[in-house]
Amino acid sequence: MNFQNLKTELKEGILFLKVSRPEKLNALNQETMEELSACFDWIDTSKEIRAVLLTGEGEKAFVAGADINEFLSMEDEAIGKKLSRRGQDIFFKIENNSKPVLAAVNGFALGGGCELALACHMRVASENAQFAQPEISLGIIPGYGGTQRLTHLVGKGKALELMLTAERVDAKTALQIGLVNHVVPQDQLISFCTALLEKIVAKPAVAVARTIQATNDAGKANGFESEVSNFAVCVTTQDFKEGVSAFLEKRKPSFQGK
Ligand code: COA
Repeated sequence: MNFQNLKTELKEGILFLKVSRPEKLNALNQETMEELSACFDWIDTSKEIRAVLLTGEGEKAFVAGADINEFLSMEDEAIGKKLSRRGQDIFFKIENNSKPVLAAVNGFALGGGCELALACHMRVASENAQFAQPEISLGIIPGYGGTQRLTHLVGKGKALELMLTAERVDAKTALQIGLVNHVVPQDQLISFCTALLEKIVAKPAVAVARTIQATNDAGKANGFESEVSNFAVCVTTQDFKEGVSAFLEKRKPSFQGK
């Protein structure tokens, strides 16, 4: 697919997806948000894409937030609701995607950029990465799921401290509070993330998708029931039979994604 503000490259099942508005530190204007929406629809149904590595163009920013220039037109409650809801819906397409999405956070992840990283299934930061939810300094709150996902990930106390002070945390602190899974030098970020995704791409695709679904339901009223139904779907796959046979026959499994 062709986009204005996204770059895509598919290599051996991994889609390398870059938010690319470097002159605006990859800030998410509405055009970019709609492109992300179309892109994640495509990813979800693509037979070739098995995993996604999401990063930002350049060495300075992952995404420096929603595009503040577009905030000028946000002048009443109805417009505010529409913008927040649309942003949430688009980020749900990432969180609920059947393909694992790894955020390779290569610099500033601020506001909507931090929320974008939070909507991904896992996060790895480069040593120069910085995270913040600075919306409060503009008189608003995170609107693309940040109040919910940040709280789930780092706990209410830390999440509130970040959102109420607007202070930035560096990569080391992000690791300490559980905001990211790993921190690596910037020149190793993409190779580290690729290696992590290669491990997942080698696993049976249905079980990968069903693990994501069931885990997304953790903490919800239907969480345990979701595990039951997702487990049951895996039992019907060829890959399950292959995995068990390969173990018993002491050989490497050959998964087909079915
Ligand atoms: N929306 C729109 N434009 C943005 C942006 C955003 N969220 N973040 C950065 N930019 C633009 C700047 O306006 C500037 O554009 P210009 O050259 O046309 O003036 C360009 O990106 C480079 O940013 P600049 O501020 O000059 O770089 P810096 O190194 O001095 O500072 C930041 C980097 C990230 C600290 C600073 O850009 C910043 O604070 N951005 C806003 C972060 C934010 O509050 N995001 C949450 C929004 S809810």
